Amino acid sequence: MKTLLFTTALATLISTIPALAGSDLATSKKCMECHAVDKEVKGPSFKAIAKLYKGTDKAEARMADKIRKGGAEHWGQNAMPSAEARGVKISDAEAKKLAQWVLTH
Ligand code: HEC
Repeated sequence: MKTLLFTTALATLISTIPALAGSDLATSKKCMECHAVDKEVKGPSFKAIAKLYKGTDKAEARMADKIRKGGAEHWGQNAMPSAEARGVKISDAEAKKLAQWVLTH
């Protein structure tokens, strides 16, 4: 029983590591100025975004592109500014990681 509990705890811990890394990255890239996980701020919640994209063709690549270039095609009046316009540097690898993280919601 103890072993089982320990294994479960360990598995839970390990499964939260990539999520934590993603949220740290989102904080450091100032995503949280306009986004929250489960409520709309200036931009849609990450849960709503994940719902829109999950299971769609090339979801990760399309989101990564949007994360770098911004845009306004999906959620109405507010546009997301490009990383460049926000003065934030986001590499391809970071954009991909952020897209993967958003999709975990
Ligand atoms: C200045 C405010 C602002 C910041 C900062 C911002 N966003 Fe956004 N984001 C928005 C708005 C507004 C939208 C809705 C755009 C639309 O209508 O498609 C959006 C949409 C998105 C979408 C969904 C795109 C789509 O095609 O539906 C993703 C994914 C996203 N943001 C991720 C991020 C990430 C990751 C960061 C940090 C690197 C970030 N955003 C920073 C405002 C922001």
